[in-house]
Amino acid sequence: MPVRTFEFKDHRLKLLDQRKLPCVETWVECGNARKVYWAIQNMVVRGAPAIGVAGGYGLYLGIAAWRGDRKCFLKELHRVAEYLKSSRPTGVNLRNVIDAIVARIEKKKETDVNSLKRFVLEEARKAHREDDQICRAIGRYGAKLFKNGEGVLTHCNAGGLATSGYGTALGVIYGCQEKGKTLDVYADETRPLLQGARLTAWELKKSGIKATVICDNMAASLMRSGKIDRIVVGADRIAANGDTANKIGTYNLAVLARVHKIPFYIAAPSTTFDFKITSGKQIPIEERHGEEITDGFGRKTVPLGVKVWNPAFDVTPHAYIAAFITEAGVLRPPFSRSFKKLKAGLEMS
Ligand code: MRU
Repeated sequence: MPVRTFEFKDHRLKLLDQRKLPCVETWVECGNARKVYWAIQNMVVRGAPAIGVAGGYGLYLGIAAWRGDRKCFLKELHRVAEYLKSSRPTGVNLRNVIDAIVARIEKKKETDVNSLKRFVLEEARKAHREDDQICRAIGRYGAKLFKNGEGVLTHCNAGGLATSGYGTALGVIYGCQEKGKTLDVYADETRPLLQGARLTAWELKKSGIKATVICDNMAASLMRSGKIDRIVVGADRIAANGDTANKIGTYNLAVLARVHKIPFYIAAPSTTFDFKITSGKQIPIEERHGEEITDGFGRKTVPLGVKVWNPAFDVTPHAYIAAFITEAGVLRPPFSRSFKKLKAGLEMS
């Protein structure tokens, strides 16, 4: 297990505080849904799959102390679900995990509220376990694509910290490590919150994988130097046509990859797909506080009163994506056809 991100014990959710990495390893304890909402919004926990898992536990914590009959319980469950889903808008895993739990509870005929509560917790634990299994499958499929000694560039953090412990894009790198393949890994620093420099470099180092961190504006020169054979990143939401929202700066890399003829992959679980939307135009893009740009390093880096724009994500058009590495295999264009396999699996579950 490359990283431990969560622990749920004695009705408390413990989250590794990702704001403090790489300097200090501390944990934040959440005993209610409000604290989970706060932890998601303030990025104590981050990364679409990890936010989904935290949301499942948050739903349980939100209804654990509820007293009343089944009808009132379901009303409260919906209220807590909507509240948690509004914490961060772009990643769809949070919605997918919470909506799936609510739908399963509604199907149950059970009238004993305590057993319904237990069921919510079981479902949250199941989402946690499944995310880990899914990431490991992504790692296995991805590892088949990469050759020993290749240069790989990644953006943001799509690793154990962003999931239940193994990662998607970094899961592919861990998958290669398990197969004895050594990659030359480069990590974009990822402004403004430095998930690449702080988190990706931290967890790769912990796993004994050497990585080189670059500033985001060095990616074009790095690609031209011939050191990068493949690019792999994670995703926050994938539309039915393959357009993909991921950390701001991903789109830049995809365009550069096309110019330099480097295959550009998205590694993502089925819980990151949103088949209800036809294209990336429908993905809501979270805008975060300007202070992340103006005061990011404990000092002012922009003159007072100057405006900044801080979208947390961008959308990469599907035409720039060579393939999606998923738990159902490597899905190549045309995506309308290859996504069918994934969709069928989701409908069956
Ligand atoms: O704002 P963040 O740090 O939550 O953004 C995270 C990303 O964009 C990740 O690449 C994405 O969630 C995939 S994580 C497996």
